[in-house]
Amino acid sequence: MRRIGILTGGGDCPGLNAVIRGVVQKCSMHEIEVFGFKKGWMGALTGEGETLSYEEVEDIHTLGGTILGSSRTNIMKVENGPEKVKETMKRLDLEGIVAVGGDDTLGVANKLQKMGMNMIGVPKTIDNDLSSTDYTFGFDTASNIVAEAIDRLHTTAKSHSRCIVVEVMGRHTGWIAINAGMASGAHEILIPEFPKTIDEVVGVIEDRRRRGKDYSIVCVAEGFELEGMDINSMEKDAFGNKRLEKKEIGHTLAKLIEEKTGMETRAVVLGHLQRGGSPSAFDRVLGTKMGVKAAELVVENRYGNMVALQGTNIVPVDLEKAVTVQKKVDEEFYRFASYFFR
Ligand code: F6P
Repeated sequence: MRRIGILTGGGDCPGLNAVIRGVVQKCSMHEIEVFGFKKGWMGALTGEGETLSYEEVEDIHTLGGTILGSSRTNIMKVENGPEKVKETMKRLDLEGIVAVGGDDTLGVANKLQKMGMNMIGVPKTIDNDLSSTDYTFGFDTASNIVAEAIDRLHTTAKSHSRCIVVEVMGRHTGWIAINAGMASGAHEILIPEFPKTIDEVVGVIEDRRRRGKDYSIVCVAEGFELEGMDINSMEKDAFGNKRLEKKEIGHTLAKLIEEKTGMETRAVVLGHLQRGGSPSAFDRVLGTKMGVKAAELVVENRYGNMVALQGTNIVPVDLEKAVTVQKKVDEEFYRFASYFFR
């Protein structure tokens, strides 16, 4: 009987369980057993996990998080990491691994593929910053959570004539900020791709005041940098990513806005709320389709690919290409959004 492994790595994200269910169901139709590794690449090092039956996973697609657990283990930083994964695969009789993750997890999968291990990637991140795919699952749910939060912040900001700065996730790119900010009518959206000075931000708030609007909502991505901010010395995770929540861009901005405008200002950091809970219908469907497609690639022995959404189709793309380029918010999206920065 053929056997494969599956793991979920990096930050968890709504829709992961739908992928697991999709892979297990499609593989079971071809008599391929699926072994679920615990805690991402950590499980592939130790072999911790269990074989998954469809009965066990049939209703998990509605659940947030991942039934397999996750970690930010970087195989490449573990002594003999790749060799250990190879040994685990041999011991468990696995012909390949379906790795579900963002740029870090898939970057490792790509390196292992180049070392001769069979890998298939499934792109996951609420940040939506993986290239080759139009959307990553988790992004829609996170956008909905943020949009709802900003809708609520509008009413309290208006009642108190305050400025509220909402800090959202997005360490390299501003997809959540621009998408949810546009959906909920934020008056200013600040993202890493399009830098602005504090005076430009203050200008928008003061212009609103002149028009009789004495409250403002500023939506900022955690990766946005104000000129002169030194973040190079910040604490980093195993993949070298800066711990951006420690930068506190939301609080920094709120303080500066209050100082410069005299307007009472508060900061709200949405943090991990954005990743928690049940996936939206869109993410359940996207996760399911990607899981099924990943299993189809296993059936056809087409390792070395990542599944991707292009238009309305789920297609295989070269894993190497998919992990080397980051998908940034495009100029047109930002321009359209900016017509409402007022
Ligand atoms: O990778 C997704 C993400 O949610 C980023 O937006 C955020 O910066 C990071 O994970 C937070 O990581 P952690 O869960 O390790 O605090």
